[in-house]
Amino acid sequence: MGTKRHFKVWRGDDQGGDLQDYQIEVNEGEVVLDVIHRLQATEAPDLACRWNCKAGKCGSCSMEINGMPRLGCMTRMSTFEEAETVTVTPLRTFPVIRDLVTDVSFNYEKARETPAFAPPADLAPGDYRMKQVDVERSQEFRKCIECFLCQNTCHVVRDHEENKVAFSGPRYFIRAAELDMHPLDSKTDRKEYAQASQGLGYCNITKCCTEVCPEHIKITDNAIIPMKERVVDRRYDPLVWLGSKIFRRGQTDGDETGARPDPSDVREHHSHGGSSGDPVAEEQAQRGVNWHRQVPHPTSPVVDERGKMPLSEFTFDRPAAPSPFGDDVSFPLPADHLNYAHPDQKD
Ligand code: SF4
Ligand code: SF4
Ligand code: FES
Repeated sequence: MGTKRHFKVWRGDDQGGDLQDYQIEVNEGEVVLDVIHRLQATEAPDLACRWNCKAGKCGSCSMEINGMPRLGCMTRMSTFEEAETVTVTPLRTFPVIRDLVTDVSFNYEKARETPAFAPPADLAPGDYRMKQVDVERSQEFRKCIECFLCQNTCHVVRDHEENKVAFSGPRYFIRAAELDMHPLDSKTDRKEYAQASQGLGYCNITKCCTEVCPEHIKITDNAIIPMKERVVDRRYDPLVWLGSKIFRRGQTDGDETGARPDPSDVREHHSHGGSSGDPVAEEQAQRGVNWHRQVPHPTSPVVDERGKMPLSEFTFDRPAAPSPFGDDVSFPLPADHLNYAHPDQKD
C-alpha cells in the first residue's frame, strides 16, 4: 500500500506558467518518473513529459527535481524524506515547449557545428586500426547519453542567453577531447578549435557539469582541464612565446615592444605561441574566438504549424538527416565489406 506524497509540478508553456500542487500516491521502489506517469493516468492527463527508456539510457527524461538537474527515471523516491515536498520543473537553460518538455535544439546546433571525425585522406576503409589503449582513453566520453543535464547546469549559459552563440558547452568539450585523443583524426587541432570556436575559455572549471552527469563522466577533470592545459602550454610557455615573437615579428598582431599582450585584448587577439602544425586551425586560433559566426539552424521542422509530425517522417525510407556513413551506403552491409581482421593477423 502506497503513501500520499506532496508534489509541486510546473505547468505551463512558452507564454508562462506556475507550480501546481498534487497529492499523489507513491509506492515502494518507485522513481520520480513513475509518479509523473501516475499523475498523467489520474489527475493530470495533459501533463507533458518526455521519456523513452525508463532505464537511464535514452537521456530524454531530464528535468529539475528540487532544483537539481536529474533524470526522472533514475531518481528514487526513497531519496526524499517522507514529509518532503518534491518539486519538479523543466530544464531552465532551454526554452519551455510545454510543462516538463523543453526545446533542446541548442544542443543539436552545437553538435552540427563540431567538425566530424575525419581519418587521413589516404586511409582506405577497412584499414582503420586502433590500439586498445587508445580506445580506452576516450571510452569514457562515449558513455554520454545526451541527456544535456551538463549543458543545462553550466552557469555560462544557464543565466546568460547571450553566451549561447559563442559557447558550445561541456557535452561538446568532451566530444572535442574524444576526437583530440583519437589517433586517426586528422581534421584539425581540436584543442585550438575548442578554444577558438567552442568557447572553452568561458569555462572556469566549477565542475558543476561533472556533478550532474548521470554517466559519471569526469567532464572537467578528464576533458576540459587537459585541453585547457595544453592550450595554456602553447600560449604561455616562455620559450614557445619567445619563439613565436621572433618568428611572427612584423605580423599585424606582433608587439614591437615585446611586451606581453594585454589580457583585456584577449577577445580580439588570441596570441597562441607555438604551432599545432595545422595551418587552418592555427589561423583560426590566431583570429581568436569567432564571436560572430553564424549558428546553423535545423533544416527540417520536427512538427508542422499545427504541432503535428509531418507524414513524410513516417513514410520516408530514411531519416531526414544525412547518414554519417554516407548516403550511398545501405544496410546490412555485404559480408565482404565487413572487416573483422585483428591488427596482428598476418594475412
Ligand atoms: S566546469 Fe566549465 S563547462 Fe562545466 S559547468 Fe563549470 S563552467 Fe560549465
Ligand atoms: S556528458 Fe553526462 S550530463 Fe552531459 S549530456 Fe552526456 S551523459 Fe548527460
Ligand atoms: S527515460 Fe530514458 S533516461 Fe530516463
